[in-house]
Amino acid sequence: MKNSSTTSGPKKITTKVIGAMKKEGTRIACLTAYDFITARLLDQSGVDLILVGDSLAQVFQGQPTTLPVTLDEMIYHAKTVIRGVDRAMVIIDMPFMSYQVNDEEGFRNAGRIMKETGAGGVKLEGGERVANLVRLMVRAGIPVMGHLGLTPQSIYQFGGFTPRGVTPGEARQMMKDAKILEEAGAFGIVLEKIPAGLAAKITKSLTIPTIGIGAGVHCDGQILVVSDMLGLYEDFRPRFVRYYAHLAETIRQSVGGYVKDVKEEKFPAEKESY
Ligand code: KIV
Repeated sequence: MKNSSTTSGPKKITTKVIGAMKKEGTRIACLTAYDFITARLLDQSGVDLILVGDSLAQVFQGQPTTLPVTLDEMIYHAKTVIRGVDRAMVIIDMPFMSYQVNDEEGFRNAGRIMKETGAGGVKLEGGERVANLVRLMVRAGIPVMGHLGLTPQSIYQFGGFTPRGVTPGEARQMMKDAKILEEAGAFGIVLEKIPAGLAAKITKSLTIPTIGIGAGVHCDGQILVVSDMLGLYEDFRPRFVRYYAHLAETIRQSVGGYVKDVKEEKFPAEKESY
């Protein structure tokens, strides 16, 4: 029987707590956030780990992919999120081209994120090819989260949004990449859009937790993009997104009501005036 995470848990979530949650079989509940108000609500609701994902390029900036968001923009959003969080661990995505040129540049940029935002760690995409950088960062005391599977920064190379790790060769490489990230010192790995069976195998083979998104129920934790699960972002709905609310409709109805009241001079009322 697995435990479920609650707000009555430890005061501040750290890599140590996240690691202990895997050992105990306590599932890790993660969501993305890009701003102060949302981050505060997620923290108050018991989310264990908040990711300032580079998905903010799509859901906050309206870009077609995650590629355009800059390091400065990530840092700006990270600062706003961290101001809203007391308990959750906050991890910041390293955006496209902030670590791909060489390890030294990636190392410096990770340092900038840590120094300027006060985050609990960084996330980057890739396995074997980023292992040396992960080692450098971990040696410097920066907690690192890996990301394998349908890694969005490689979307043009993949040529589409179909699941990864479906061929035996790809699955073998992903198992190897996960092990390499663990050995390099990563404290956890996001597994995105891969077969549930492969995610279960990877999860079993590691001592560090896996966080799934479209990777089945056997991962140690789950993550969703907050605007997806709240039903705010309706343009694209992958099969792994469950709507826990329909906020887009709620906002349209609420704002429609306000517009109507203003037009009909029903707002403000006397008690709302001075
Ligand atoms: O950028 C992001 O939101 C992510 C999650 C989907 C894992 O990387």
